[in-house]
Amino acid sequence: MLHAPSADQDPNDRLIDRFGRHITYVRLSVTDRCDLRCVYCMAEDMNFLPRAQVLTLEEVARLGRCFSELGVTKLRITGGEPLVRRNVLWLFEQLGALPGIRDLTLTTNGTQLPRYAAALKAAGVTRINISLDSLKPERFRAITRKGELAQTLAGVDAARAAGFARIKLNCVMLKHRNHDEATDLVRFAVDRGLDISFIEEMPLGVIGDHDRAEAYYSSDEIRRDLAERLELIPTTESTGGPSRYWRIAGTDTRVGFISPHSHNFCGDCNRVRVTAEGRLLLCLGQEFSTDLRRTLRAHPGDDGRVKQAIRAAMSIKPRGHDFDLTEQPIIFRHMNATGG
Ligand code: GTP
Ligand code: 5AD
Ligand code: SF4
Repeated sequence: MLHAPSADQDPNDRLIDRFGRHITYVRLSVTDRCDLRCVYCMAEDMNFLPRAQVLTLEEVARLGRCFSELGVTKLRITGGEPLVRRNVLWLFEQLGALPGIRDLTLTTNGTQLPRYAAALKAAGVTRINISLDSLKPERFRAITRKGELAQTLAGVDAARAAGFARIKLNCVMLKHRNHDEATDLVRFAVDRGLDISFIEEMPLGVIGDHDRAEAYYSSDEIRRDLAERLELIPTTESTGGPSRYWRIAGTDTRVGFISPHSHNFCGDCNRVRVTAEGRLLLCLGQEFSTDLRRTLRAHPGDDGRVKQAIRAAMSIKPRGHDFDLTEQPIIFRHMNATGG
């Protein structure tokens, strides 16, 4: 889709890396904390960041403004669990008012949505992705280590009731843990008019729960399992993220596959992410980064300096990740420190 640049954006001031990829999508993590402890994401015992190291919401809002003035049109708020951050609604209101942002999105585990869904809609959030790996309460509890399925399902209902279109479920598939639930999860999505994405687990941080190579269940295997009971129609639709979509015949549901191992999507990467500490990470699977917190704090009134630091970082965006499930992780940060 083509959009006219907003009044605040210089059309020549765009973020393009050395491989010619145009960065239009930024993921902003607002906390590394979470009320769950999903086994693929965290270790059981985690140390979280001290507050002074985490960006203030004002700093995150300032970054959102800088990115929008650099041609970014899609922001996704991530965590940890973003909705456990105090006053986070204020941030959504600030970002929702930015003229250049067409898509203000959120990735959440859903537990706080009964409280927040309506206010998020009012603040201008356009889409919500909700993590849901199992529809069986005891399995859900085992995968999240402490979650109540009913609470997340109440979150899904709250998002629907608030009128969000194209709510998407995210399912990380683990062999022998939940891989046999793919069809049930798709049917759950179809019944509620939701989209759903299946994700191959990525080796970020030491989790001490399972062997990631043994738990690997590829997107192609899931698609094969689904095709035994459902009719899947390929489409070229995109949400601007890494999912490749299929449609379920006769329904409004799209089934996405996020396949960093089996179908690498780095070639058309359009995104960067900012950690809760303000580190601009140029790739989820590599450590190339720039410390934006230092720039923000050293130049409080000067967005030009922040934008200059962001622009300069484009020259260190790597071609892609080097994930290898058979080796010890080379990336020591956990997913909750990065936001995905
Ligand atoms: P849409 O806007 O709905 O397309 O969302 P999204 O898929 O971009 O975001 P979401 O937060 O739902 O992420 C789903 C999965 O995709 C998570 O496991 C992310 O870690 C993963 N993901 C998102 N961007 C990247 C990326 O650049 N590289 C890799 N390897 N994984 C990514
Ligand atoms: N590999 C793949 N996806 C992960 N997520 C969290 N940790 C991992 C991992 N190691 C997912 C969450 C959420 C999204 C932000 O990333 O389930 O949906
Ligand atoms: Fe882009 Fe890195 Fe993600 Fe690949 S792993 S899609 S290069 S951010």
